[in-house]
Amino acid sequence: MSGREVVGKVKRVNGSLVIAEGLTGAKIGDVVYIGNLKLIGEVVRITGEDFALQCYEDTSGLQPGEPVIGTGSPLVAELGPGLIGEIFDGLERSELELWRISGPFIKKGYKIAPLRRDKKWHFVPRVRVGDEVQEGDILGTVQESSVIEHRIMVPIGVRGVVKRIEEGDFTVDETIAEVETASGNMVEVKMAQTWPVRIPRPYRERLPITEPLFTGQRVIDTFFPIAKGGTAAIPGGFGSGKTVTLQQIAKWSDADIVIYVGCGERGNEMADILTHFPELEDPRTGKKLIERAIFIANVSNLPVAAREASVYFGVTIAEYFRDQGYDVAVIVDSTSRWAEALRDMSGRLEEIPAEEGYPAYLAERIAGFYERAGRVITLGSRERFGSVTIMGAVSPPGGDFSEPVTSTTVRYVGALWALDTELAYRRHFPAINWLRSFTKYVDVLVDFWRKHDPEWVRYRERALSILEEASRLEEIASVVGEKSLPEEQRLILLESEMIREGFLVQNAFHPVDRYCPPERQAKILHVLVDFYDLALPLIKSGIPVDKIRELRSVMELLRLKEKEKVEEIEEVFERVKKDLQTLRSKYEVRTA
Ligand SMILES: Nc1ncnc2c1ncn2[C@@H]1O[C@H](COP(=O)(O)OP(=O)(O)O)[C@@H](O)[C@H]1O
Ligand SMILES: [Mg+2]
Repeated sequence: MSGREVVGKVKRVNGSLVIAEGLTGAKIGDVVYIGNLKLIGEVVRITGEDFALQCYEDTSGLQPGEPVIGTGSPLVAELGPGLIGEIFDGLERSELELWRISGPFIKKGYKIAPLRRDKKWHFVPRVRVGDEVQEGDILGTVQESSVIEHRIMVPIGVRGVVKRIEEGDFTVDETIAEVETASGNMVEVKMAQTWPVRIPRPYRERLPITEPLFTGQRVIDTFFPIAKGGTAAIPGGFGSGKTVTLQQIAKWSDADIVIYVGCGERGNEMADILTHFPELEDPRTGKKLIERAIFIANVSNLPVAAREASVYFGVTIAEYFRDQGYDVAVIVDSTSRWAEALRDMSGRLEEIPAEEGYPAYLAERIAGFYERAGRVITLGSRERFGSVTIMGAVSPPGGDFSEPVTSTTVRYVGALWALDTELAYRRHFPAINWLRSFTKYVDVLVDFWRKHDPEWVRYRERALSILEEASRLEEIASVVGEKSLPEEQRLILLESEMIREGFLVQNAFHPVDRYCPPERQAKILHVLVDFYDLALPLIKSGIPVDKIRELRSVMELLRLKEKEKVEEIEEVFERVKKDLQTLRSKYEVRTA
């Protein structure tokens, strides 16, 4: 994959765009080292003698005439043991290592390899000398963290017979196996392998999506679920809850591995991630989240251009773990910062802008990124399954969803969790608007839900239609006053309040409420909808809604979500039934 090295020189500098000459033979996508400091960049356009370079580091001080080295190789991610638990910058350099070398100051031109070179990993072979192996086959494993077994695969493009392999402690640069190909070449396989970040890693077959990525967040799992191998976007204005929601998913979802790409809107938010993420408990394993997570945080002084690269590093690392047979979740907060980097470069290149200054290829880039999600049969002779699920925040300026990045993203994702500033303002969290959100995964998830709740689809649809009806009635009520609506309509409003407060609202910081398992989600929804069906005949027989609302047990329905056991939920419902029965008898006596 690597070509010949060429040396040219800087002609002009315009922010992160550098024009160089003399790079004869360099191709678009080749990595370049720019100037005396060898700043990292990529060739983005070639016109005649001019090579346009996107520089991922601060170019201030860079002068015309300084040398530029074209490496002849594309931007690659290094893959191997040592990724888990790391906090990388947008160019896969360890933040902690950078910090150690240079302190909190400008880190220009530092070349540090992504994986640690000195660390020895205990490698246990899975194949024997004489075995035939092909690309994607697992040669052996390394226990990378307490919860992740790193599976070392035969590199893509290699096929042959194992000539040497043994158990032992190796660094990522040492040969762990030798494979002789049909033509007699001896391939030395090392644990550190590379892959070009802009090219999706190959797999054997794409599979239909069948399982949810279960998040424990009710509005997501029950109403707008995402599937393993699927995609979702979460657009929302400043402070509407993008980061809290995505961090909830990072902590609670049933992905084996989480890759969190932070293109922060606020510098301190990223600093917060650096200090807090390593401390986060992993509620699923009882260990630290960092044992199954990787962070790519644009906290260093890298300019916006590096954010463009960082999402590709993230998804490439995700595909690599997918290929090992894992379900990987990629979370990007926020994709708007990445799109802005595209816009910035496009502007400097003086390309003809499309909407709001974004380049015409914005849609193609967004689509191409989300297309890297999926559930697959991996390469290798034994059948192995893995998935990459991608979830991205979008930060529309002023919360306006019609802007290009939001409206484009919506077209390419399978689920949309539309955040609503108005709901956030009323402290309805997660502020996911149930009328503007959607999911395309309901049909494929029916079988999963059937295990927990045979009637999931029916209850889901009923709840959603009550919410829709209520929003229509609220508009009328805002004109004529709620009290002047017919009692049956007022019951709809009461019921929608119950679903909103008792189900949709979920406090990320409440010890029980923060995570709601599927059986509890199903139970709560059933109780809330069944309550409506029990109350309706009472209303029809002339009992006012207010009498029902006044019942203590009915108000307790709003707190079902704080109950840890399904039996406690049932107990409350039994009381509700009894109270409604009593109310009914009282009225029957009175009207008799
Ligand atoms: N699920 C939630 N439960 C409780 N509070 C929440 C929840 N989601 C958001 N919030 C509140 O909203 C604030 C802003 O959320 P944040 O995720 O930082 O917004 P954004 O990333 O969209 O700017 C949080 O600090 C928190 O107080
Ligand atoms: Mg945020």
